[in-house]
Amino acid sequence: MFLILFGAPGVGKGTQSEKICAKYNIPQISTGEILRAAIVKNTEQGRKAKILMDKGELVPDDVILGIIDKRIVQDDCKNGFILDGFPRTLRQAREFSVLLEKHKIPNFRCIEISVPDEVILERLGERGRDDDCRETVLKRLRIYKDQTAPVKEYYKEKNAFYSVDGNKPIEEVFNQIIELLVD
Ligand code: AP5
Repeated sequence: MFLILFGAPGVGKGTQSEKICAKYNIPQISTGEILRAAIVKNTEQGRKAKILMDKGELVPDDVILGIIDKRIVQDDCKNGFILDGFPRTLRQAREFSVLLEKHKIPNFRCIEISVPDEVILERLGERGRDDDCRETVLKRLRIYKDQTAPVKEYYKEKNAFYSVDGNKPIEEVFNQIIELLVD
């Protein structure tokens, strides 16, 4: 299964990815987690990314595409993977399609988890990650609307776009997603 979990910050992409990955035994590829691991290791990439992430800004497309290009060819990705937090710009989406063709990976489904902004602000206010203060979350939401939301149209045009209501208990959101995955 090859799947993109799409949506604004805090809608539950990471939470649902973990559950889907456990059910289908495929890896989760979270660009945010990969960048946070680089920050913990104090690599040059991590140090540069931290400056942008703390401000709620996107990391450059070339950096992210380099990460994805290396990750999706690893052995554990052969039977599928879930992308969480990628693609986040139209350029990422377009270049990802080229990568999929290059690696002969079958068509992707893109599932959006949709949650009202006020619920997102409440959820992330309670979580307490470095980029979760109210001002930064508002900026992340703005950037999502400006740069990431247009990616929806890209997958709609490919007839590969679905949406679920994320403002429900975790198990209910999970069941909505699973229903979309049953062919
Ligand atoms: P990233 O790590 O991808 O963060 P995000 O998309 O902002 O998403 P979050 O992790 O905040 O939320 P989520 O949707 O995964 O929700 P979660 O399950 O955690 O990116 C961080 C930064 O890295 C970006 O700002 C950017 O700088 C950089 N970056 C990453 N990818 C990039 C890319 N492709 N291009 C450029 N830059 C990139 O849940 C949130 C909270 O809600 C949790 O506390 C959870 O317990 C709770 N929750 C979840 N579901 C429910 C529910 N149904 N009901 C109640 N609570 C719930």
